Amino acid sequence: MDGAILVTGGAGYIGSHIVVALAQAGHTPIVLDDFSNSALDVMPRLEALGGRPIPLIVADVRDMVALRRTFHDHPIAGVVHCAGLKSVGEGEERPLAYWDVNVGGTIALAEIMGEAGVARLVFSSSATVYGQPDVLPVPETAPLRPQSVYGRTKRTAEDFLRDLTRANPNWRIAILRYFNPAGAHPSARIGEAPTARPQNLVPLLCRIAAGEAPQLAIYGSDWPTSDGTGVRDYLHVQDLAEGHVAALGFLSENAGAVTLNLGMGRGSSVLEVVHAFERACGRRIARVFAARRPGDVARYYADPSAANRLLGWRASRDLATICADAWRWQQAGGRY
Ligand SMILES: NC(=O)c1ccc[n+]([C@@H]2O[C@H](COP(=O)([O-])OP(=O)(O)OC[C@H]3O[C@@H](n4cnc5c(N)ncnc54)[C@H](O)[C@@H]3O)[C@@H](O)[C@H]2O)c1
Repeated sequence: MDGAILVTGGAGYIGSHIVVALAQAGHTPIVLDDFSNSALDVMPRLEALGGRPIPLIVADVRDMVALRRTFHDHPIAGVVHCAGLKSVGEGEERPLAYWDVNVGGTIALAEIMGEAGVARLVFSSSATVYGQPDVLPVPETAPLRPQSVYGRTKRTAEDFLRDLTRANPNWRIAILRYFNPAGAHPSARIGEAPTARPQNLVPLLCRIAAGEAPQLAIYGSDWPTSDGTGVRDYLHVQDLAEGHVAALGFLSENAGAVTLNLGMGRGSSVLEVVHAFERACGRRIARVFAARRPGDVARYYADPSAANRLLGWRASRDLATICADAWRWQQAGGRY
């Protein structure tokens, strides 16, 4: 594809891996980020891993003046829109911020893309749009019943993007619903670097194994699963990043909107992840069982067959690789 790819939120956990995957695939990535949940120190690492200078725009994705200038100054051919607020718990406390950034940011971006005549957009959505699944694995056609403010902002941003495409079929939009991204780049130069106490399982295991956090609380030991703990679809962040490169390639050939699950297509229980992580780090993870949390579900995993077919993409790195790469990142410091 001629022209650069703007990655909003490109300094964040998933965006940084996308930037490197794009550079390695021969694209010219540009990062736009306000660093509200990331660190400037990631930039030299992205340039080293990507093997090229990476232009940086420090801006809020809702800042239309900054967006307009960015599209004016750079020959942008497509956008990967990762910038957003992502904490399910925080969203309940800060609905205004979540709606403004996740929905308002997407609207501002689309408006400036429209002005600039840039039609290719890959959007970071989430499996949380589904809520309680009726069928497993979860297909893209499953009803959307998000249980959180965060999930509702993602569903609304998705609806908005599909509406845009219905009104103007020149848009080329891939809405990617991520299941549970985990792991880090195998170089251990980039990874997930939560500033507060980690909320996701794998970064939490990293901190516990490193002695930086106490024991793991496992919510529920009586779920209807093989070992009683909750099952989720963990996919390696590198596989996820490569899915975005594949989606941009797909959009070069196809107009309209496509909505795709990105996941492994099978689940692992909390205890299976704990055991895999113990093997990776050679330490025992202290854990206690706690009561189920309201709103949690027993099992949740993707039907990724549409992405496999349409993008020629498949999540191939296994749980052992996810844990080994996450632990390597933790041992390198686990933060910027
Ligand atoms: N990590 C997950 O488990 C997960 C799962 C499903 C979907 N997603 C989505 O993927 C995207 C990336 O998630 P992540 O895990 O990399 O999160 P992250 O917080 O590490 O990255 C998001 C980046 O966006 C930036 N950002 C936030 N608000 C901004 C704004 N208003 N303007 C400009 N930049 C802003 C942050 O500074 C950060 O660098 C998000 O949209 C998230 O909702 C994440």
